[in-house]
Amino acid sequence: MRISVSILGADFSRLGQEIADVERAGADWIHVDVMDGHFVPNITFGPNMVSSLKKCTKVPLDVHLMISEPQKYIPAFVKAGANWITFHMESEGNPVQTIAMIHGLGAKAGIAINPGTPAEAVFPYLSMADMVLAMTVQPGFGGQKFNAAVLDKVRLLKAKAPSVPIQIDGGVNPETISQAGAAGVDICVAGSAVVGKPDYAAAVTALRKAAESVAD
Ligand code: DX5
Ligand code: ZN
Repeated sequence: MRISVSILGADFSRLGQEIADVERAGADWIHVDVMDGHFVPNITFGPNMVSSLKKCTKVPLDVHLMISEPQKYIPAFVKAGANWITFHMESEGNPVQTIAMIHGLGAKAGIAINPGTPAEAVFPYLSMADMVLAMTVQPGFGGQKFNAAVLDKVRLLKAKAPSVPIQIDGGVNPETISQAGAAGVDICVAGSAVVGKPDYAAAVTALRKAAESVAD
């Protein structure tokens, strides 16, 4: 199980230090939640921010675009240093073209689906995508409750395409990560379960332990 730590709940006035702390805590990836105030009712980072973050860490940047018209902004985010770009099926644009654009720019492509979108919506793109993100909360805010029903979609996706990594995002904590591990999730995004805790390293270790206890 890989852990991608979301910095949505970090102290933005000292983001460089926060990123260093997350890296030292053992995060596999750093998850950057990009929100435009239109696709979701919240506003966060732009490409300039990603480019500054890139200078602070060697950990891969997992950029989650919760924005309308993702194709307009993908080149700027990849140029800024995004290693992974995940866009939403519910946003505009042709997913085949969007994935091809991300690959053409040299990044890995993920497709995200909201809790209400069926797994079947991404079936036509499974052979192109590098990852599928099944949202376990409605996107927009950290600290929401995990929707365990989404794990049925994860099982469906794993049965259909066992080699495509599945990520979940929202409400991950030591209890829910063990359910996710049992369902076959490969990458968990964790926000408040790490950045909301006083000791980031202890928090990442607790998540890893809980995830591994299922795998054994
Ligand atoms: C929600 C974001 C998540 C969020 C997760 O819209 O996509 O990445 O930061 O936060 P927690 O882990 O607190 O649910
Ligand atoms: Zn996210």
